[in-house]
Amino acid sequence: MKSTTNRRDFFRKAAVLTGAFSCNSLYQQLFAEDLAAKSDLYKNVSAEKMAENEDFWALIQQAYPASSSPVLNLNNGGVSPSPKLVLDAVDRYNQMSNQAPSYYMWRILDQGREPLREKLALLAGCDPEEIAVNRNATEALNTVIYGIDLEKGDEVIGCKQDYPNMMQAWTQRAQREGIVYKQISFDFPIEDEDTIVEHYRNAITSRTRILHLTHVINWVGQIMPVKKICQMAHEKGVEVIVDGAHSFGLLDFNIPDLDADYFGTSLHKYLSAPIGTGMLWINKKNISKVWPLLCHGDPKSADIRKFETLGTRSFPIEQGIGEALNFHNGLGAGRKEERVRYLKNYWAEKAMSIPSVKIHTSLKTAYSCAIAGVSIEGMTPQALGQQLLSKYKIHTTSISYGNINCVRVSPHVYTRLSDLDRLVLALSRLAEENGNQSLNSKGA
Ligand SMILES: Cc1ncc(COP(=O)(O)O)c(C=O)c1O
Repeated sequence: MKSTTNRRDFFRKAAVLTGAFSCNSLYQQLFAEDLAAKSDLYKNVSAEKMAENEDFWALIQQAYPASSSPVLNLNNGGVSPSPKLVLDAVDRYNQMSNQAPSYYMWRILDQGREPLREKLALLAGCDPEEIAVNRNATEALNTVIYGIDLEKGDEVIGCKQDYPNMMQAWTQRAQREGIVYKQISFDFPIEDEDTIVEHYRNAITSRTRILHLTHVINWVGQIMPVKKICQMAHEKGVEVIVDGAHSFGLLDFNIPDLDADYFGTSLHKYLSAPIGTGMLWINKKNISKVWPLLCHGDPKSADIRKFETLGTRSFPIEQGIGEALNFHNGLGAGRKEERVRYLKNYWAEKAMSIPSVKIHTSLKTAYSCAIAGVSIEGMTPQALGQQLLSKYKIHTTSISYGNINCVRVSPHVYTRLSDLDRLVLALSRLAEENGNQSLNSKGA
């Protein structure tokens, strides 16, 4: 039996890990105790070394019901599952809300938004007054895209490898208001930050007002040199909107350190918050000039809350973000980034040595983390994705978009090395079968 001191210590640590409305289940208390004990045990070990520590990551894997899914989910870049304590919290808030919805949602759960804003700001390394909580990256970024005053002829520069929802929003503004939306294009992977910066610099003219930039390119996982691009753009008087859907909750950084003006992200990707959660950050000095996408009584207000008039939304889902933050902080942001990068390198380096397999992503630390693209010579991305699923129960996403043709693979902290061995085996078998088939068909 544990000593009283240990018990007290354990409850203290468990309390640190809970959210604004948590009622600790025994599961959560035990998990918090285990996580705190492991963190203590390895407190002097660097994040890079921890990336290979299977003892620590086994505990994290157990926290995710998705780790025992019959379909191996390697599309965490699309949407990530939540750990059990987040799922439990949402269930709990949902049960509570359905007792007397308008009372529990509007008078109780709604009070959790301010502590949540503070918790998000702590992770983002910014002032809570710069954070708005919403439902996804599309909503966050469309708020800025449609909210900034631009005149006919003003230019916005983006790239063809940005996310479609944002490209469509800019195109709509071009069609409706006559702004000029210009897109440059990249051939990824690129292992030279200055080449990327110069590409944007060369596109800027005296009419350019906005640069739209994706932090981590969703198609192939290229990490863009955001800070360098922002500094270059600011020298030319151009503001920068950053799409951080694939970076926040994965890469260990503070938003203000990017030197951007606006930053929108999903929280249901690498942060593992409940599905349907997002966040908008706006540099304080810019808040008053952005019109809210939805209504507000004082649309030119400098209060970031003017972007949160969403009407009735899921308060249980929103409050579940708090538990995801607890979980993320408990495991450690630096450890998470290094582990997920390690997992990507683990499978991609093995896959590279298979004849006819190509990796479409730089494996250098500065240029990628979770995502890598893969293809097999002679197979379309659709055929490869479909066979991975039908023959090996491995779920990925197939990409045939402009100059990018590959299957995107994105593991998460709950992915096991044995899962990735299964992927590599599947790739090598499919490459072999595909090679045999083409030999046979040549011979026929
Ligand atoms: C780069 C990028 N931006 C934005 C989004 C949209 O995210 P959400 O579905 O949260 O709106 C995605 C989705 O995958 C994305 O990859």
